Amino acid sequence: MLADERVGIRRNVRTAIVTGGASGIGKATCEVLARDGYRVAIVDRDELGAHAVADAIGGSAFSCDVTDERAVASTFERAVEALGAPLDALATPAGVVDATPFAELDAATFLRVYQVNVIGTFLCMREAAKHMQSGGRICTVASVAGKRGGGLHGTAAYAASKGAVLALTRNAARALAERGIAVNGIVPGPVLTPMLQTSLADESKRALIESSTLLGRSAEPLEIAEAIAWLLSPAASYVNGEMLAVDGGLLFD
Ligand SMILES: NC(=O)c1ccc[n+]([C@@H]2O[C@H](COP(=O)([O-])OP(=O)(O)OC[C@H]3O[C@@H](n4cnc5c(N)ncnc54)[C@H](O)[C@@H]3O)[C@@H](O)[C@H]2O)c1
Repeated sequence: MLADERVGIRRNVRTAIVTGGASGIGKATCEVLARDGYRVAIVDRDELGAHAVADAIGGSAFSCDVTDERAVASTFERAVEALGAPLDALATPAGVVDATPFAELDAATFLRVYQVNVIGTFLCMREAAKHMQSGGRICTVASVAGKRGGGLHGTAAYAASKGAVLALTRNAARALAERGIAVNGIVPGPVLTPMLQTSLADESKRALIESSTLLGRSAEPLEIAEAIAWLLSPAASYVNGEMLAVDGGLLFD
């Protein structure tokens, strides 16, 4: 039996929506999925960036803030229409970081981070699931900060939001299992993207962050995207509710 048949998909072309596809991990995910033959729709609040990536990979782009519930619903409708087939895969890298020290962090900042990283991820999963058949696959993006409680780059709001993504991912796996939709997530360590630029520009901070991994370096976005693509693929057909660390061994012990 072919891997696609195991998960109930018999079309030749697979379809995917990638949030945050204009930059960093999301952009690399779009490139890998397009390389693997997917038709890709990008959902990002950065309209110009999303269109640039879409043009490069032959996909489509949709400007949307993932915290806007109505906009997410209508954007997913339009994106699936553009894809021209039921949705096979969703990746949710759209996210923000915050490094405000604990004592200076205010509720408004905390809420903004939570809204994008947690509620944004939830809304996109909920809307994507409406357009998926049995065999659909979702991959969320947490962070080692959500497991360790931060300490390297993001602080309280970021760490707590990524911890929430871990729980949300497992909850979605339970909730969507009866429809044959699998939900997993990845837990990246440090990745060379615009999000980490400020921290990595400081040599001593960079050394601290990178020496905490067994590999002694940060990841290229492609190294994270390959793991996302695998979790979204029929090759991962028996993987569900899993959070895969892609962290160079940072969480090893
Ligand atoms: N870079 C790292 O070291 C690292 C480590 C662990 C986890 N992560 C996570 O990986 C994901 C991707 O991060 P990245 O490093 O590629 O960052 P990035 O800043 O390069 O990309 C984030 C993308 O999300 C989009 N985005 C942000 N808020 C949005 C919103 N409200 N609506 C729609 N789009 C929005 C941005 O426009 C951008 O294109 C994030 O969830 C981040 O927390 C990153």
